[in-house]
Amino acid sequence: TTTPVGIHDLSFATTHYALDHAVLAERLGVDRDKFYLGIGQERMSVAAADEDIVTIAAAAAQPILERHGTDNIRTVLLATETGVDQSKAAALYLHSLIGLPNAARVVELKQACYGGTAGLAFAAGLIARDPSQRVLVIAADIAKYELDTPGEPTQGAAAVAMLVTANPAILALDPISGLYSADIMDFWRPNYRSEAIVDGKTSVNAYQKAAQEAWSDYRRQGGRELGEFAAFCYHQPFTKMAYKAHRHLLESQGHTAEAADLEAAIGATTTYNRTVGNSYTASLYLGLASLLDHADDLTGKALAMISYGSGSVAEFFSGTVQPGYRAHLRTEANQAAISSREMLDYDHYRALHEAVLPTDGAYHAMAEETRRPFRLAAMSGHKRIYEAR
Ligand code: CAA
Repeated sequence: TTTPVGIHDLSFATTHYALDHAVLAERLGVDRDKFYLGIGQERMSVAAADEDIVTIAAAAAQPILERHGTDNIRTVLLATETGVDQSKAAALYLHSLIGLPNAARVVELKQACYGGTAGLAFAAGLIARDPSQRVLVIAADIAKYELDTPGEPTQGAAAVAMLVTANPAILALDPISGLYSADIMDFWRPNYRSEAIVDGKTSVNAYQKAAQEAWSDYRRQGGRELGEFAAFCYHQPFTKMAYKAHRHLLESQGHTAEAADLEAAIGATTTYNRTVGNSYTASLYLGLASLLDHADDLTGKALAMISYGSGSVAEFFSGTVQPGYRAHLRTEANQAAISSREMLDYDHYRALHEAVLPTDGAYHAMAEETRRPFRLAAMSGHKRIYEAR
């Protein structure tokens, strides 16, 4: 028998600010229920001017290092599509902020919202080679679309950090994945833009097709039957998307998709995403955290995980929830990260949305806004200067 590998600890962080979708609906002159019910989003996390993916990634990872130390963390994989540098891996800033080990390889991964799942798969491979090693996988993103576009209500931000080990305490991953990739322009962000470009309807259809194809491949690889899963965690660009994709999957397999069945399969995975918004690479794992924190006892149950990254890559994988997992959850801290956000009015949100970092290379101190553990304190000589608060 092979040693089980999977998620031993999971922690998330989000930004200092949030915007209620009622504020956005009023501004855009649409019924707030289009957002609350139609896309299934109530609030979105918004980054302060002194926050970026490094500050939220550090805040997500710090509690994991505090609980488990850094021994044998030989690899750190940070997935993002909101990178702060074209060359240097964002996780390298974490050495000074939270004390990552120097005897480690540290790499940034990118494939839209799929990158975190690539990190998990690569981590599992490294640990299969040497079960004494542990891998820190971090997914961190700030989702930003142009103002007054259909994508705007699907913004958000979060980071999830996971310690991946042999004999994990929370979720043991099945050594089988279903894969699907195709060259498609549904969502992308050219290097010269800070906001993503999206063909909304194309992206929704591409997501559904990719999820179904990844499922078919999962079955070809000898994966479980649909009926074996206690819940389905989907990537959630907006929470309604998980319901749409699951309905599509069930119907493509000749099943009916009653509202109550969809709710039982998906409902508990959406609690955090509904109020955080899209967090791209982190979104699927926020869904997993939400499920573990809110569902009845899942011990021994199989979970389906469906990852999608535009462009596009999808992966259908699965795992078994471990006995005693509840003692390892961070439910209180997760809920506090969300409930402690400061609510924005529209003008402040807009100012943050339009703010740009200075690019002249001179010294610029950033105004102190965030009350989260880490902040971007200054720009100097084209370098980002971070500090712990
Ligand atoms: N009360 C209740 N529901 C209402 C309503 C009201 N007053 N008004 C509208 N609705 C419903 C609509 O009926 C619709 O429901 P269905 O989807 O079930 O038909 C829903 O609200 C949304 O309405 P529209 O389709 O008119 O919304 P839209 O066209 O303005 O925007 C979108 C939808 C195109 C998906 C937009 O949110 C978008 O561009 N999002 C960004 C792209 C995205 O998230 N794509 C997802 C797949 S790609 C991916 O997953 C990668 C990633 O992270 C980006």
